Amino acid sequence: MGVEKSPALMPYGEEWRDSRKLINMALSQSAIKKYHAVQEDIAALLNKDLLEKPNDFISHLRLAAGRVVLSVTYGLFAENSQDQYIADAEEAMDLLGKGMAPGAFLCDYFPIMKHIPTWMPFHWRKEAERGRQAIQRTVELPYVAVKKMFSENCAPCSFTENLLSQRTDDPKFDEHAMWAASAMYGAGTETTFATSLTFVLAMAMNQDIQKKAQLEIDSIIGTDRLPTIADAAQLPYTMAVIKETMRWHPSVPISVPRRTSEDDVFRGYHIPKNTLVIPNFWAISQNTSNPGQFNPDRYLNQSMLDPSEWIFGIGRRICPGRYLAENSLIAIICGILSAFDILPLQNETIHPKFSPKHISFPEDFPCQIKPRSREKVELIHSCSVEAKLHFQNK
Ligand code: HEM
Repeated sequence: MGVEKSPALMPYGEEWRDSRKLINMALSQSAIKKYHAVQEDIAALLNKDLLEKPNDFISHLRLAAGRVVLSVTYGLFAENSQDQYIADAEEAMDLLGKGMAPGAFLCDYFPIMKHIPTWMPFHWRKEAERGRQAIQRTVELPYVAVKKMFSENCAPCSFTENLLSQRTDDPKFDEHAMWAASAMYGAGTETTFATSLTFVLAMAMNQDIQKKAQLEIDSIIGTDRLPTIADAAQLPYTMAVIKETMRWHPSVPISVPRRTSEDDVFRGYHIPKNTLVIPNFWAISQNTSNPGQFNPDRYLNQSMLDPSEWIFGIGRRICPGRYLAENSLIAIICGILSAFDILPLQNETIHPKFSPKHISFPEDFPCQIKPRSREKVELIHSCSVEAKLHFQNK
């Protein structure tokens, strides 16, 4: 599909190390502090969208996740979900998601199949070509837009703007920079969306847990402002809800296949160099008592391994966006809990189903999202006006 140029899917080597260094710098724990305000503003705009069109909650959550990464990566603001960059990226991610579902495109697992002639009536060849075009647009268009603004001295601060200010004579500079930026966008949007949608599903199915988290937020933060990312340390139960959301259904149940770079032994099994290893995060998520039950209490007990230790991968390919992602989830989830009740529809039981893609999220489910009070409606309005102003003044 052409995605082998993306640092996320590139084999280990010098090119990957160079891109990864840039991404690590942009997304380090200290670097991402400057995005707290943007993430909180995006959570405030999400609340406004949920208030106005609660039934479209899935597309609002998708837009919020896309807005964070678009803003951090390119300094661009998406007005709505019809925004061209968001629409292109969604199409690309949809096709890539199908292509990366384990075994979906046989050529991922049996590279020799890539050499089968194009006339072969294989469904995956057609899908791969559509995916290649969508990915190309996603990779090029936002980068070209930022590059133009940069040449006119009006590019807002972002990962791409920062890269452009360090431009080298390398003839491949643009290609490397645009793929590094798009890797962040591609890897960061769908995963954050999937986790926040899983949260909404879990709340619609677990009213008591939702009320307990709301009570904690009300008692610590009060009811006249929205929680901030800095408040997280004071909200242990709400943080346990976020952790349980990540464990209950990991957004990447089966991670990116990797090859071992040397011989290894694991629990008595000999693993030869070059073995394809597929990390199974789903199995890790199930390694607890009654795994199907949504139970944040398991994280109030210190002995339970925090899911952020494994849902983001391990080793040198560990997700570089993990700190940014956690903050987005804090802003989005605390913002929703503080302002809305998520309720099941009367007389309807939810039977959760998750998409069988590489990045897996709940399939359509019925629920109601209602503001918790008239005061909350006013708060949602005033916070969203402020947030909009912040974006306009950038
Ligand atoms: C809940 C949200 C997220 C989850 C669950 C998640 C999970 C993952 C996982 C499992 C991997 C593969 C790790 C491996 O191969 O061992 C990964 C890689 C990656 N993620 Fe994330 N991620 C999230 C958010 C983000 C965000 C917000 C960004 C950037 C803005 C990001 C950027 C990346 C990149 C660039 C890679 C490729 C790293 C490499 O191959 O060197 N991710 N992520």
